[in-house]
Amino acid sequence: MAKEDEKKEAGEWREFFWNPRTHELLGRTASSWGLILLFYLVFYTFLAGMFCLTMYIMLLTLDDYKPTWQDRLATPGLMIRPKGDNMEILYDVKNTESWDKYVQTLDSFLAPYNNSQQMLNNDACAPDKHYVQDDSGPVRNVPKRSCQFNRTMLGDCDGFTDRTYGYGDGKPCILIKLNRVIGMLPGKDGQSPYVTCGAKKEDSEFLGDVVYFPPNGTFNLMYYPYYGKRAQVNYSQPLVAVKFLNLTQNADINVECKINSNTIREFSDRDKFAGRVSFKLRINSPD
Ligand SMILES: *[C@@H]1O[C@H](CO)[C@@H](O)[C@H](O)[C@H]1NC(C)=O
Ligand SMILES: *[C@@H]1O[C@H](CO)[C@@H](O)[C@H](O)[C@H]1NC(C)=O
Ligand SMILES: *[C@@H]1O[C@H](CO)[C@@H](O)[C@H](O)[C@H]1NC(C)=O
Ligand SMILES: *[C@@H]1O[C@H](CO)[C@@H](O)[C@H](O)[C@H]1NC(C)=O
Ligand SMILES: *[C@@H]1O[C@H](CO)[C@@H](O)[C@H](O)[C@H]1NC(C)=O
Repeated sequence: MAKEDEKKEAGEWREFFWNPRTHELLGRTASSWGLILLFYLVFYTFLAGMFCLTMYIMLLTLDDYKPTWQDRLATPGLMIRPKGDNMEILYDVKNTESWDKYVQTLDSFLAPYNNSQQMLNNDACAPDKHYVQDDSGPVRNVPKRSCQFNRTMLGDCDGFTDRTYGYGDGKPCILIKLNRVIGMLPGKDGQSPYVTCGAKKEDSEFLGDVVYFPPNGTFNLMYYPYYGKRAQVNYSQPLVAVKFLNLTQNADINVECKINSNTIREFSDRDKFAGRVSFKLRINSPD
């Protein structure tokens, strides 16, 4: 009895797999299978086509020369050199080793700014106006030229007049740079943005006089706009050097430098840390 049932079941299965009467394979006729295969073929071809088309359009809109997505209100930050550890410049005037690392950092940072190097790579541009190099229609004007920023424009902080950048006599130089933002035009009407530094309130009596190089601490307009690493291969970021002439020794002095510009308001109001940099100076002297 049970055996007969099994036999019958097996026969049903075999018949389901291949039914010789109706010529059905797994319950479908050849034309039904054909239609299904055709459907999936068309369906997947369509999906693959969609994928390729989307990729193609994506790649078309990507530009090698500028990032596709950039915050239009990107806020330029300021950065200092040397940075020290955690933005603390801390040394002992008498102990050469304690400040030699700062001098070395500045030496290597400024090497590409040597006048000879700048003359070789870059143009002597007309100051106080933006150095705009547009593409002529669809013809890409690349590579674009950059303007000379000569190391000697840093005056007493160029490392030639004083090989120790003032570290050896307690009047250190700090270099300030404005972070690169592609296409940014800081300043207008011939007025370049400039840097000013001050001490936090409680430290103001310790700061003493500061002097800026180039004069007035300006980032000249001619160094903008920046077109990006690919387009402007020899770009030299403009620098401002701040020399602290009469720091009180053996005191922590919290300094804040900020950028001032007649256009920077539009992108600095959103963020009170934008366009500023804070650091600590402490010069020890065993007297
Ligand atoms: C830059 O000038 C200094 C001093 O003249 C020199 O020691 C250094 O090798 C120069 N660097 C480059 C990259 O020319
Ligand atoms: C940079 O220095 C070179 C050589 O000293 C000089 O010919 C050139 O005019 C200077 N450029 C600027 C922008 O001062
Ligand atoms: C970059 O500098 C090199 C020399 O170091 C020069 O041959 C080249 O023309 C410069 N390129 C641009 C775009 O200024
Ligand atoms: C520095 O600023 C003063 C006052 O704003 C101005 O008279 C002077 O021409 C400026 N100097 C330079 C080199 O820009
Ligand atoms: C340096 O600062 C001290 C006070 O911190 C002051 O008494 C002195 O006159 C200043 N020296 C110069 C040259 O300004």
